[in-house]
Amino acid sequence: MMEAYDRFELLVNDRVVKTPVAIASMAGIVDAAYVLERAAHVGAAFIGGYSIDGPTLEASRQMAQEGRKEFLYDDPLETLEREIDVLKQSDVVMGINLRGSTPAAYAEVAGAFGDRVVYEIDAHCRQPAMLEAGCGEYLLEHPAKLVEIIRALKSADVTVSVKIRAGVAADDRDLAHTVWKAGADILHVDLMDYGHNKVRQLRNASPLMLIANNSINTFDRAMDAFSHGADLVSLGRKSDPWTLAGLDAAITRFADEGGWYNAPKQLCRGGDVRALAFCCMPVKACPLIPALEKIGLSRNEYLKIKQEAVKGTPLDDGKSTCFGSLAWCCKISSPCMFRNMTLEKKGLSTREYMQCKHHLAEKIMHKLFDEETGDESS
Ligand SMILES: Cc1cc2nc3c(=O)[nH]c(=O)nc-3n(C[C@H](O)[C@H](O)[C@H](O)COP(=O)(O)O)c2cc1C
Ligand code: SF4
Ligand code: SF4
Repeated sequence: MMEAYDRFELLVNDRVVKTPVAIASMAGIVDAAYVLERAAHVGAAFIGGYSIDGPTLEASRQMAQEGRKEFLYDDPLETLEREIDVLKQSDVVMGINLRGSTPAAYAEVAGAFGDRVVYEIDAHCRQPAMLEAGCGEYLLEHPAKLVEIIRALKSADVTVSVKIRAGVAADDRDLAHTVWKAGADILHVDLMDYGHNKVRQLRNASPLMLIANNSINTFDRAMDAFSHGADLVSLGRKSDPWTLAGLDAAITRFADEGGWYNAPKQLCRGGDVRALAFCCMPVKACPLIPALEKIGLSRNEYLKIKQEAVKGTPLDDGKSTCFGSLAWCCKISSPCMFRNMTLEKKGLSTREYMQCKHHLAEKIMHKLFDEETGDESS
């Protein structure tokens, strides 16, 4: 059987994610026991939300009185310790969804558990009591505070996820860029009704690992999110074992057959920035030209990035293809005799070809984002 890393090439918190399906937090419902019952079918899980200081614990109590499900306790660290311990032996990468009223409250939790878990900031909750306590969606309207929290967590050198609701911040793209620059690792986005256009928009705004969420309960919806930039999908309300098992099986089958499970659509078919890996040389009037202009990349820079990125890889070859190298060749789903003949001659399977394109896309993303100038958020 193929090793999980080879199949999805996905790491979170330095651990292999065995399938790009996650459980999203639901306060009062998703705890470690809930995850254990579903552990065979998910690669990651965010338990909680857990309130972690006086004001947010008080907000939880108020919300519970108003009839909402909440986890209630007096000692957050003791409760979290118990939950983390339950999942210690599991192969599910664990995150804890947290609501705190100050950066220091988050830092204290990170100090207690270090790199054992991913720390997810709940910038999603819209219950008035939580907003009053200065967390949840409040943070999307006050990004400076969100940045402070991210930095407080990162100063403990831990993996940070930010859970957001799309359409609340002044501009979701700016928010993605800001949280990335502040040091966050993961953007977990409840897409609401925005669909794949929002996924693409966020993918194009930062290199953060992207988890797409909201009613992504079928293989088709998961693939739609993947092909526009999502790295994982997460499920809340429909995170029953049957739905999760079906999704996991279908996505795994797809990856085993096709290679790059979250390959983008080609640029001219609405693909995100990673689709540059499938684009030709910039020699004709097509959507590549305005896309390069939007990114701020000259045609020469684009040529150089791809040429350098494929050096020494199987994509460097391909004399009988349109542009003399597989670097410029289309997605495997676009039929092409010349590319396929080249692949056959090289003994490269379609799966391996797509894997090489995946690595090329990662190098392109690295060039476009990580080599940007340093921290802008100070
Ligand atoms: C009962 C309930 C409680 C939730 N609690 C939280 C929470 O504590 N923190 C959080 O970030 N999201 C919370 N969410 C949001 C979910 O994680 C998810 O974003 C949302 O339900 C949409 O995804 P779905 O369609 O897969 O359910 C909650 C959702 C529900 C239904
Ligand atoms: S370069 Fe090719 S793949 Fe890219 S947008 Fe133009 S026609 Fe489409
Ligand atoms: S050889 Fe085929 S796959 Fe390669 S760029 Fe030309 S049409 Fe596309």
